[in-house]
Amino acid sequence: MFTENMLAELNKQHNYELYSAYLYMAMEAYFHEKGLSGFANFFKVQTEEERAHARIFYEFIIRKGGSVTLDAIERPEADFESPLGLFKKALAHEEFVTSRINTLVDIAIGDRDHATNSFLQWFVDEQVEEEESFQGIVQKLELIGTDVHALLMLDAGLAQRVFVVPGPLAQSE
Ligand code: FEO
Repeated sequence: MFTENMLAELNKQHNYELYSAYLYMAMEAYFHEKGLSGFANFFKVQTEEERAHARIFYEFIIRKGGSVTLDAIERPEADFESPLGLFKKALAHEEFVTSRINTLVDIAIGDRDHATNSFLQWFVDEQVEEEESFQGIVQKLELIGTDVHALLMLDAGLAQRVFVVPGPLAQSE
């Protein structure tokens, strides 16, 4: 069983992952409107990943005998000034999620809840990849500047991204 605080924070994280999916849907829509379908695809796949992250928390709470509590999902920002500005916001959001995962680990350690700590380690590693992924695109967009040809080449590259079911979810299927 979870402590009351651990369960509340896991449920909160489930909500944050759904919010992440919602935020990235807004970002996908921005790129559709700009005619950048590769960038839009990047966020479509990212949205699917976030839904999968939420599902992983959902299933873990249930498996360990906790109650899932569903709260309202906050409305995401929808006004973005530029592709670079948007990606900086996405990176800042991932850094926030990393801080959340670290908080959850701290709570699990404090509770001597080894199962939850072990479960969270996949997310610790995943957040390194998430930040690396967004940071890489921020750096590319900074290099690209106002070069439209280079922007379209990056767009073509991002069109290749495909969704891969994350490990913990693939194992539970
Ligand atoms: Fe679920 Fe992008 O972290």
